[in-house]
Amino acid sequence: MINPVYSPSPERYDSGIRYRRCGRSGVLLPEISLGFWHNFGDVNPLANSMEMAYYAFDHGITHFDLANNYGPSYGSAEETFGQIMRKSFAPFRDEMFISSKAGHDMWPGPYGEWGSRKYLIASLDQSLKRMNLDYVDLFYSHRFDPNTPLEETLQALVDIVRAGKALYVGISKYPPEAASFAYKYLKDRDVPCLIYQGRYNILNREPQTDGILEQAKGNGVGFISFSPLAQGLLSGRYLDGIPSDSRMAREYSLKSSTLTPELHSTLVKLNEVASRRGQSLAQMALAWCLKDDLVTSVIVGASRVEQLEDDFKALENTSFSPEELDEIDEIVSSC
Ligand SMILES: NC(=O)c1ccc[n+]([C@@H]2O[C@H](COP(=O)([O-])OP(=O)(O)OC[C@H]3O[C@@H](n4cnc5c(N)ncnc54)[C@H](OP(=O)(O)O)[C@@H]3O)[C@@H](O)[C@H]2O)c1
Repeated sequence: MINPVYSPSPERYDSGIRYRRCGRSGVLLPEISLGFWHNFGDVNPLANSMEMAYYAFDHGITHFDLANNYGPSYGSAEETFGQIMRKSFAPFRDEMFISSKAGHDMWPGPYGEWGSRKYLIASLDQSLKRMNLDYVDLFYSHRFDPNTPLEETLQALVDIVRAGKALYVGISKYPPEAASFAYKYLKDRDVPCLIYQGRYNILNREPQTDGILEQAKGNGVGFISFSPLAQGLLSGRYLDGIPSDSRMAREYSLKSSTLTPELHSTLVKLNEVASRRGQSLAQMALAWCLKDDLVTSVIVGASRVEQLEDDFKALENTSFSPEELDEIDEIVSSC
């Protein structure tokens, strides 16, 4: 059968999705965004990747988060997105907010990672070609580089915006002092930092404890949470062992040694709280990140459409009673 031309759902903005303003900017982001780190590479069936991208956009998910080295292989998640863009998404480009990043290892030799101007600019040029885009909406410095002058990295971000290759810039995994420097440097050059991307979920509260969340808010910068399900731990995936088709079974970014008996018992207890709220564990974990205005959006990953279907229902209830929050804190702190 010949694939019909993609035509998005006319109800895509009325299916329960909500948008939050990203810091002090004109940009609204969906409360749930879709990330392409895993499951969209050239090792994955293209049809499944397309189905998930379509499902997301059909439900008002306008923000797609990529990076140069997402795959595997490196670059192939951007190529997958580029194929979807060319085949289906191109007429809807202006309804979408697409990000990419550079910072981690991408190509061999001294210019293929970290934060030099040389690397960031070359990498974005490659990303644009792979994604079949003229510009990205958002370009990130993917990690803080302690050996490159921060001014060099940040000036490259400014120049990328001035060259029209990105509309906004962001930073990811920067320590608080470097983030503070970045916010001021970028603001002083009229290219304010749009967003900070950090790992934040029920099990990992670092952006809260090290002040990143409040710091972003105080600077008019949005915050977007990556791995809000702790790579799947905070879902039903591992309550009854390690499924053979799961991320943990691949022993790459999520190792089976993480799933200690203590962590498993924590997940079971969290799942009980979720059931009482009438939610799946994944839904409660996403709702928890979105419970206040410190978080603009959560970036979920998924390996199949059914997971996205489950995840999007989190938006039906993102409020928690003080008792529920205390119980969750107690379960996590006794882990
Ligand atoms: N800035 C950074 O350095 C950085 C780092 C990491 C990630 N990110 C971004 O954040 C995005 C999300 O990260 P992540 O993939 O780790 O996010 P995550 O949402 O914490 O984990 C996604 C995984 O959880 C499982 N899952 C999702 N929904 C489920 C459901 N309803 N029921 C059961 N299992 C479910 C799936 O695992 P299975 O695959 O096992 O089915 C899925 O692959 C990435 O794609 C990327 O865009 C950024």
